[in-house]
Formats: sequence, structure tokens, C-alpha cells
Amino acid sequence: MIIAIDGPAASGKGTLARRLAEHFKLRHLDTGLTYRAVAAALLAKGLPLGDEQIAIEMARHLDLAKMDKSLLSSHEVGEAASRVAVLGGLRGELVRLQKEFAATPPGAVLDGRDIGTVVCPDATVKLFVTASPEARAKRRTDEILSKGQEAEYASVLSDLKRRDERDSQRTVAPMKQAADAHLLDTTEMDIETAFQAAVDIVEKARAA
Ligand code: DC
Repeated sequence: MIIAIDGPAASGKGTLARRLAEHFKLRHLDTGLTYRAVAAALLAKGLPLGDEQIAIEMARHLDLAKMDKSLLSSHEVGEAASRVAVLGGLRGELVRLQKEFAATPPGAVLDGRDIGTVVCPDATVKLFVTASPEARAKRRTDEILSKGQEAEYASVLSDLKRRDERDSQRTVAPMKQAADAHLLDTTEMDIETAFQAAVDIVEKARAA
């Protein structure tokens, strides 16, 4: 079974993907981390974010098992990841790794922006998880504040909107709901309600 989950930043897709993987005993890949790992390596070496050949070279040295979410979760790395994600050749390299991960038994949950459309077009079930920009900005602000860091709602909101715009307007594999994806709008849901709704959708798809 392959569960494909797409959606914008701070929609809750990552938490849902992790919990669905636990629930259905599947492996999980947060594909955003692959773009973040390449971006972080470029930033650490002071290399340009727009050079496709260098970015591809970084991707060739990427080990999915060694990606450390805690080291890649910063706002700066997220922004840089969204920038390198426009490079078609880099995407080709990362998509190859992601497809390999998905094809390994017993199956997997992958979350990202182009899983249902490009990485796993034949997934057993596809979810497009979204929420209003305001709800996502509130969640992201609360999350940062809860870690004892500073965050200002208005700037978090404008950053999210800018990232949505870049991720959905790029020419190669833009963020898009696949025609056969189930839309899950979590604006008015807490995580438990969203999880139950997602489990129901997966169970129904599996039964069908
Ligand atoms: O989900 P995230 O915030 O960790 O993703 C960081 C960036 O990586 C996101 O802004 C766009 C890019 N990305 C992508 O283009 N395709 C994916 N499947 C996952 C992430």
C-alpha cells in the first residue's frame, strides 16, 4: 500500500503522514527533508542555490537514512529548500530516490508537494491536506513560540503565502491536488479529528 500526501506548508500533512504510517505499519518519507538536506548542504558550504549541477551533485550524495529532521527544520532552510525545488534536474534526482523508497516493501506513506502527481501517480490512496493560510500561520506561530523561539504571526503569514506562491507557480512539478486525490481541509479540525478523517479515507480506498 502506498499513501501519497500532498499539501502546503503547515497544513498538518507531516503529522498526518507520520501517524498514518504508524497506524498502517508502513514506512514514512517526508520528501520535504530531501529538498531541505540539499539546501542545507549548499548553505553550509556557501554555494549558490540556483546552480543545478552543484545541487544535483549534492543530491547524489544524499542518504535518506541519515537525514536529521531536527537539523533541517529551520525557517532559513525551508526557504532555501523552496528555492532549490524549482530546479528540474535536481527534482529528477530526488524523485528517483523517493520512488525507490516507495517501491520497497511493505509499502510507504510519502508526504510532499508532488507525490500524487509525479512521485507516486499510482498510489493506493491520495490525500491533499490543506487549511486556510491564517490557520496555518497560527499553528506555525504557536509551534515556534512553544519551542521558546520568537515568532510574529504577520510575518509567518506573509512567509507562508510567499512559499505557497513559489511552490504552486513553478514550472516543474508544481504543488497541485491530483485529480484523484481526496481533499482534507483541516482549517476547523484538531489533529485527532483530521487523523480520524484520514484513516476513514484510507480504509475506504483500501476496501474499494
Ligand atoms: O514540506 P517542507 O516545508 O519541508 O518542504 C520544503 C520545500 O521543499 C517546499 O517549500 C518545496 C519543496 N518540496 C517540493 O518541492 N516537493 C516536495 N515533494 C517536497 C518539498
